[in-house]
Amino acid sequence: PLVALVLAGGTGTRLYPASRSDRPKQFLSFDGEQSLLEATVSRADFADHVVVSTRPEFADEIPDHAPDADVLVEPVAKDTGPALTYATHRIAAEYDDPVILVLPSDHHVGDGFAEAMQRGARVAAETNSLVAFGVEPSRPDTGYGYIEPGTDHGEYHELAAFHEKPDAETATEYVESGYFWNAGMFAWTPDALLSAARDSPLEPLVDALDAGDPTTGFDAVTETSIDYAVMERVENAAVVPVSFAWDDLGAWDALTRILPADEAGNVVLGDDPIVVDAADNVVATDGANVSLVGVSDLAVVAWDDRVLVIPKDEAQRVREAVSRLKARG
Ligand code: GDD
Ligand code: MG
Repeated sequence: PLVALVLAGGTGTRLYPASRSDRPKQFLSFDGEQSLLEATVSRADFADHVVVSTRPEFADEIPDHAPDADVLVEPVAKDTGPALTYATHRIAAEYDDPVILVLPSDHHVGDGFAEAMQRGARVAAETNSLVAFGVEPSRPDTGYGYIEPGTDHGEYHELAAFHEKPDAETATEYVESGYFWNAGMFAWTPDALLSAARDSPLEPLVDALDAGDPTTGFDAVTETSIDYAVMERVENAAVVPVSFAWDDLGAWDALTRILPADEAGNVVLGDDPIVVDAADNVVATDGANVSLVGVSDLAVVAWDDRVLVIPKDEAQRVREAVSRLKARG
């Protein structure tokens, strides 16, 4: 069967203060209707089964967003490398001959998604390789992985190289060289992923899972994403180009790409702010009454009892505030 494995265990730091450690972004709604997680699960309705992978802290809340899905809870959150290895191992034990489709729950996705995912799943089954999905880049974003395409086989390219989150200069070179963005979605058979993981820093985890001891396995590996741990070093991988509209709701500037702007270029999530001579800002609130006068190119976010003001094109730097807040305790 085709098993959609929805990732919902991240904390979404860069959407602080709407996203907080006890209320990560996959539980938030950006269209006033569905949460990101609900939208992801309903998009996966073409799959035979839906499994949601999460960390222990979020386990209780998942059924509110995904009542019909199975929930797989890893022993401890150590990013997507360990989480996906664990989930793949479990799915291999529970289903007969599964093809797994990995779907992050922090994406905005347009038409054509199901067809492209089914194509990727078919390539994964036929080639027994790790299949990534390639989006044509529109800017040198440093928040994404980049894929160098190799030999063209029609439906897919061999994956020549994978580079996770390059610096801005390198990202510009990759865009100019015709590399793809990694969409963060993958298709694989358990055999393809687990043999690649055995050849990676995740090997002790695979061994422990084979021995039936996930806790020891998670203790034995460090926090790492599937991109760094596996995709950057795997030999046998493919990339399926996709053309549906796609965005990772990574940081506040992403709202400018998914919500309409007013005449002055301001984008608003939540109640309308008072705007006087202010242009090209992002304003996001959960009820606060915000006024902007004579400012431009800012992201202004007021959520709960917290306020964030940051230059819109440096929205990724919110991480710096979050790590100071954590240090303060
Ligand atoms: N179960 C579980 N456990 N899920 C997790 C964990 C974890 O420890 N950490 C993160 N996730 C989930 C997040 O909730 C999200 O749905 C997904 O895994 C991806 O994590 P992100 O933290 O959002 O990754 P990213 O956006 O920085 O980078 C990835 O996605 C990009 C495209 O959106 C990479 O794959 C990049 O290469 C890619 O370009
Ligand atoms: Mg993401």
